[in-house]
Amino acid sequence: MNILSINDLSKEDMLRIFDIADNLKENKEQASLRENSTLALFFEKPSTRTRTSFEAGISQLGGKGIYIDAATSQRSRGESYSDIGKMLSSYCDFIAARLYKHDDIVEMAENSAVPVINALTDLEHPTQALVDMYTMNSHIKNFKDISIAFIGDIATNTANSLMLAATKLNSRISLVGPKDYMPNNAYFNKAREHGLVYVYDSIKEGLDGANIVYTDTFVSMGQEGEADKRREMFKDYQVNSKLLEYASQDALVMHCLPAHRGEEITAEVIDGPRSIVWEQAKNKLLIAKAVLLFLSLKQQ
Ligand code: CP
Ligand code: NVA
Repeated sequence: MNILSINDLSKEDMLRIFDIADNLKENKEQASLRENSTLALFFEKPSTRTRTSFEAGISQLGGKGIYIDAATSQRSRGESYSDIGKMLSSYCDFIAARLYKHDDIVEMAENSAVPVINALTDLEHPTQALVDMYTMNSHIKNFKDISIAFIGDIATNTANSLMLAATKLNSRISLVGPKDYMPNNAYFNKAREHGLVYVYDSIKEGLDGANIVYTDTFVSMGQEGEADKRREMFKDYQVNSKLLEYASQDALVMHCLPAHRGEEITAEVIDGPRSIVWEQAKNKLLIAKAVLLFLSLKQQ
C-alpha cells in the first residue's frame, strides 16, 4: 500500500492512524517496527519538518532513515523515477519522497516493492492533512463539528489534501481566495462527492461559522518565479486580527509552516493565543510514526 494521496486512504484508515497516534501519545504500548527497518527519504525540495519528523520517527521506532538529496543523486543526471523506486525498494522497507511533479511519485511507486509515502508534491501533501485533521480533532471532539476556512492559495497541495481529508471525515471546509482564482477542479469535485466543500471570494461569507482558520504560504516551492505576482494577488487574504473577526469567536488558527510573517499571516496571529500552529507542527512526529506503523501493519 502507498500513501500518495488522501484518495489512497479510507475514512477508517485515517481513524486507525489517529488511533495509533493516540496510543503512542499516551505511551500505552512500546511501539516498534521490525528490527532494523529502513526508510529512504528521497527529497527534491527543501524540508524542515517532514524530513526531520520521519527520520526521528523511524529512529524512535527502532529503525533508521536514509536521506537522499535528489540533487546529489544520479537523478541530477537524469536517472528515471522508475529505476530509483525499484532500487530504493530493494534496499529499504519504506520510501518517503518529496518531488516536484505528482506523476513522478506515481511512477516511482509503480516500480517500488515497498510502500511509498508522499512527503509533498505539487498536487498533494497527504501526511500534512493527517496531521491537520488529528490536531483539529484534539480540540474539537466530533469531526462533524469542525468547520475549516482555508484562506489564500486555495489551489495549493495542502488545500487539495485537506479538502479530501476533511470531507471524508465529515468536516466542513470553505476555500477562501481571490475572485476567479479557483481550487483544483479534480480535487474540488472529489471532495464534493464526499461532503461539504465550498468556494468563496468574500472573506465575510467564507469565514462565517469557521472554528478553524487555516493558511499556507502564498508562494509554494517551485513558484518562486511568480512570487511578486502571487503576493499581490493574495494580499487581501492575509490572516490577521481583523480577518479573524469574521470567524467564530473561539476559532483556532493553523498553518502547515514554513510561515512568512507579514505575508499570509501576521506575527501577532501566528504567535498569539489562538494559534495552535506549534502543536500542529509537533504532531508531525506522532503522525509520521503512526503512518509507518499503520503501513507495516497493512503489510502483515
Ligand atoms: N509542513 C511541512 O511540510 O514543512 P516542511 O516543508 O518543513 O517539511
Ligand atoms: N504549499 C507549500 C507547502 C509547504 C509545506 C509548498 O508546496 O511549498
